Amino acid sequence: MTTENDIKRMMARGCEFLGTEYAILGGAMSWISERNLVSAISNAGGFGVIACGAMEPHMLDEEIAETAKRTDKPFGVNLITMHPQLEELIEVCAKHEVSHVVLAGGLPPGWAIPKIKEFGAKLICFAPAFALAKKLARSGVDALVIEGMEAGGHIGPVSTSVLAQEILPELRDELPIFIAGGIGRGHAIAAWLEVGAVGVQLGTRFVCASECIAHENFKKAFIRAPARDAIVSTQIDDRLPVIPVRALKNKGTQEFAAKQIEVAKRLDAGEIEMGEAQLQIEHFWAGALRRAVIEGDVENGSLMAGQSVGMVKAEEPVADIIATLMDEAVKALEKNRG
Ligand SMILES: Cc1cc2nc3c(=O)[nH]c(=O)nc-3n(C[C@H](O)[C@H](O)[C@H](O)COP(=O)(O)O)c2cc1C
Repeated sequence: MTTENDIKRMMARGCEFLGTEYAILGGAMSWISERNLVSAISNAGGFGVIACGAMEPHMLDEEIAETAKRTDKPFGVNLITMHPQLEELIEVCAKHEVSHVVLAGGLPPGWAIPKIKEFGAKLICFAPAFALAKKLARSGVDALVIEGMEAGGHIGPVSTSVLAQEILPELRDELPIFIAGGIGRGHAIAAWLEVGAVGVQLGTRFVCASECIAHENFKKAFIRAPARDAIVSTQIDDRLPVIPVRALKNKGTQEFAAKQIEVAKRLDAGEIEMGEAQLQIEHFWAGALRRAVIEGDVENGSLMAGQSVGMVKAEEPVADIIATLMDEAVKALEKNRG
């Protein structure tokens, strides 16, 4: 008979790396992964990660301190490499002796890796392509998260299943690898563990946790949405770059398409310069995630969500979400083994 202990055994390397009971990371989500959700995930035996996003160093300082007041279990901090104060943010992490730093948003600058490892933190990076995964492994990163395009938020172009096939067999012996993107049920967790992942990272599935501070409109939109509503932002004109972001379609996503057409036409007519045109596109979504998550404006705000949104059915405590995932993983494995 398969039991939870069998799954935990398969997660052992991931649990040891994170210092947790389950090798399940709550992927950092800007505005959402703050003290309440992060501590709840860690208290339930998973690994919560604070999303620093655009926070200034003094805000991150307070967020880490407040999270630490709510849990004595390990948790991490996610920093975006493009943040203009990355160095100061790393110093804040060092001050709090944060055990794990996750760097997102592209290849970390060379100086950042030793600076993080210097104060004893483990460094986790995202691998959106095989070549990048090899480079990161060589540069001293301690663990990788393979995140496919099924995920919510900013995404790369390749699916989780293809990235996992490319990267896992090549690098799994070298460093621990976690899988993210599109995981809504424990069945997928069991499957990824069976092919050599040490654990998983979920974002979308934790949004409707009771402990999550997201506005009830935001949570309701998640509960209602089928997988197919979590669409990628499309670029309409070659000259006007659009960063691929997966979010639920709404009035905002429709208006974004219209805006791109309008700006392209004005560009053709010589009414605006290229720089101004690109800026208008770039600024369209400024503050939009906050508008949806905090203010509950689900019409115009950004409803960043992964395709696993279709498997989010109710608001429930983090401990129940993790228990369900583990139970489903056990059942899936049991069925496979007959
Ligand atoms: C609303 C939202 C906001 C996110 N913000 C961030 C972020 O600030 N930094 C980051 O590295 N990843 C971010 N992500 C990605 C998650 O950390 C996680 O990797 C992803 O949600 C996993 O895929 P899933 O949504 O299919 O579970 C975000 C995802 C969502 C849904």
